[in-house]
Amino acid sequence: MNAPHNALKTAGAAPDIGRYRADFPILRTKVNGKPLVFLDNAASSQMPQPVLDRWIRYQTTQHSNIHRAVHYLSETATAEYEAARRKVQAFVNAAEDREIVFTSGTTDAINLVAHGYGRKFVTGGDEIVLTVLEHHSNIVPWQMLAEEKGATIRVVPMNDRGELSMEAYEKLLGPRVKLVGLAHVSNALGTVNPVREMIAAAHRHGIPVLVDGAQAVPHLPVDVRDLDCDFYCFSGHKMYGPTGVGALYGKAALLEKMQPFKGGGDMILSVSFEKTTYNVIPHKFEAGTPPIAAVVTLGAAVDYLMDVGVARAGSHETDLLDYATEQVNRLPGVRIIGTAENKAAVLSFVVDGVHPHDVGTLLNEEGIAVRTGHHCAQPVMQRFGIPATSRASFALYNTLAEVDALVTGIRKVQQVFR
Ligand SMILES: Cc1ncc(COP(=O)(O)O)c(C=O)c1O
Repeated sequence: MNAPHNALKTAGAAPDIGRYRADFPILRTKVNGKPLVFLDNAASSQMPQPVLDRWIRYQTTQHSNIHRAVHYLSETATAEYEAARRKVQAFVNAAEDREIVFTSGTTDAINLVAHGYGRKFVTGGDEIVLTVLEHHSNIVPWQMLAEEKGATIRVVPMNDRGELSMEAYEKLLGPRVKLVGLAHVSNALGTVNPVREMIAAAHRHGIPVLVDGAQAVPHLPVDVRDLDCDFYCFSGHKMYGPTGVGALYGKAALLEKMQPFKGGGDMILSVSFEKTTYNVIPHKFEAGTPPIAAVVTLGAAVDYLMDVGVARAGSHETDLLDYATEQVNRLPGVRIIGTAENKAAVLSFVVDGVHPHDVGTLLNEEGIAVRTGHHCAQPVMQRFGIPATSRASFALYNTLAEVDALVTGIRKVQQVFR
């Protein structure tokens, strides 16, 4: 039986979050004649009108290449680009704007650290500690580095709920470990890892920690100084911004010690065939023309999210997740994968006897967008002994009524396969 959604809960949990929904034009889309129910936000969230407008305003009134010319447009574009850096700095509470490097996304940020830090400081016999619930983008760059250097990857295991073993983690830390890489929030399970404690434990051994915050920044207020992480990476397109842009936060002292990842224009102070002198941070890591429009628009996404309040958005999403968990748990033959005590915005599930791709296809017929597959986290799937899951992931514009639509959709899937 499908319980009607609790209107009081909607009202109590997030009094006016609904007003933000109107900001997202794409949510008016009809799919198969039905209103779009967009529950694939962990893959990429949608952009609100003020953020879309910012892109247009930049392109129509401010665009030029940056850091290069003295003319009006170039100076304007440079000022807007650097203003976006300060917005991102404030967003994660970094101490200085030069600690923010613009990248093309989380993957690019992690690769930057693997090359800039890893290739310089990791040698044969060293170890890199990762967790079993990492996205492939926080596994593969380290494997490539380990292969090149003769280093070893050590993996923190998790329990059946999708929670990391702190005991095993502490045992892995030691003098050979050159870096810990861990997700703040698991994209496949929704687990919120105790990153603050994990960072403190690594620091007791003098080990720097990179946090993959791709799934955290839209849902939890992030304070890199409070976490005391050494690196923090995230993507614009998962926080109501555009694709093609993201950021790496790095402690200034570490960024300064690192070697550049890419060579080219803008990352140098002087070049001759005898010797090149690199630019100061963060420019040392931003070779070539960056995605200027995307960076400026990311700044607008930060403004939007800060205006809503990340904690408020997160609390609304937690209400959606709690309600969805309760409803899906009532469905016989549906199993939730990832039942950690502390979760954010992600509900992964499997339906007995139905392949997740069929679940996704049939839900799409109802206008419901979920992600199906291994979510670029194959080790998580291996840990649970499954090939794939269906994943509903929430954003600030989702509603309890959409959760009801999902639950009804899953029932229909079960009827089709009965
Ligand atoms: C936890 C996590 N890390 C990294 C990434 C990669 O992000 P991007 O593809 O934007 O580089 C994702 C994307 O889904 C993710 O969920």
